[in-house]
Amino acid sequence: MGIKLGILGLGTVGTGTVQLLLDNVGRHSLLRELEIWRVGVKSLDKPREVDLPTGVITTDLESIVNDPQIDIVVELIGGIDRARELILKAIANGKHVVTANKAVISRFGAEIFTAANKAGVYVMLEASVGGGIPVIQPLKQSLSVNRIHTVTGIVNGTTNYILTRMQTEGSNFDDVLADAQKLGYAEADPTADVDGWDAADKIAILASLAFGGRINREEVFSEGIRQVSKTDISYADKLGFVIKLLAIAKRISPLSPSSSCPTLSVRVHPTLVPKTHPLASINGVYNAILVEGEPLGQVMFFGPGAGAGATASAVCSDILNLAARLTSAKSSSSSSNIDPLLACSHQDYCPIAPVSELIVRFYARFLTKDQSGVIGKLGTCFGKYGVSLESVVQTGFQGELAEIVVVTHDVQEGKVKQALDEIRTMEAIHSIPSLLRVI
Ligand code: HSE
Repeated sequence: MGIKLGILGLGTVGTGTVQLLLDNVGRHSLLRELEIWRVGVKSLDKPREVDLPTGVITTDLESIVNDPQIDIVVELIGGIDRARELILKAIANGKHVVTANKAVISRFGAEIFTAANKAGVYVMLEASVGGGIPVIQPLKQSLSVNRIHTVTGIVNGTTNYILTRMQTEGSNFDDVLADAQKLGYAEADPTADVDGWDAADKIAILASLAFGGRINREEVFSEGIRQVSKTDISYADKLGFVIKLLAIAKRISPLSPSSSCPTLSVRVHPTLVPKTHPLASINGVYNAILVEGEPLGQVMFFGPGAGAGATASAVCSDILNLAARLTSAKSSSSSSNIDPLLACSHQDYCPIAPVSELIVRFYARFLTKDQSGVIGKLGTCFGKYGVSLESVVQTGFQGELAEIVVVTHDVQEGKVKQALDEIRTMEAIHSIPSLLRVI
């Protein structure tokens, strides 16, 4: 018998989640035990990117959280009040819950987890912070023996994208924001992102997990990036810094055996970050979370902080964790109690492809005569063999010879070799001192 899912919401993340669940080949075998039983939406008229059997989609969200057949409710509607209400009803009906909703968890976590503990169900929230980056589970499990002293994150992709563009282009906040909205990197109403509220929700959740206590969301300080100017960025640069919107949770009080909840500083604000700091190089829409503790030292989680596929990966990993527990509970009377997500069940060797067949990027460095048209000839020749170029840079001179560096897009090695064989015969080419693969 399969595990039945009730999914609330079929927006970007809901659609990504359904797509991942339906496209299960090559993923964990437990995914095949899952059944998308009901999907709750606002309107039946909206065109959908996923093809679900008739009767699965409904506008009656209440019927999903009350459906006795559903094992796991996946809340992906966003917003606060309605989401909170539906999560609490699902819990009261004995259902496990998976949610991506940082706003609800950061504000109503205490109420929700108290209810869940009482009902004996789990509320899973991997997707609520860092999109596809696994950081909740590591904080709850793998890192939990450490004494964490600081969690520092770039946890909002929109603001990191804006700051990165301001830095690289020397542009103003308003211009970049307007362009980011046009390109779909920023919401029409960007308030929650640019004023730091979204990051504050996320650091409240991370702080709670890292330091083992609840966090009052209203006490989290947040200052956004509206006032960051290109002049600040330029000065910071000259001084050896970049400006990032950091979300920081830090232990303030000394360790004490008598108190389980330490005093913390939990805040979000634009921050000058030394260029040598691990977070300084996290650019664009990416997120990263640096966790520092004892005895571990530093560990950094990096990846896509939003997007349908990335967030679906986190949502589905939570679903899988619950499915593993439900499956082992159902079979515990018969065979073993082994959690299939923790045990290793590999049996066969994987075939290994020869390196010549791999599709990778290449870096090539050429020494050429300093004459017009050389870069054009290189590009044309690569194009002739189907090698697409990511970048071509003339870095300077070595004596009389010009030095040109080319980075390809992903390509089969054989095609690059063919192009290079022809390039070597060109009158303007002196030599090709380097050919390296790029990860
Ligand atoms: N709005 C968020 C961001 C993504 O820009 O990072 C969802 O948490």
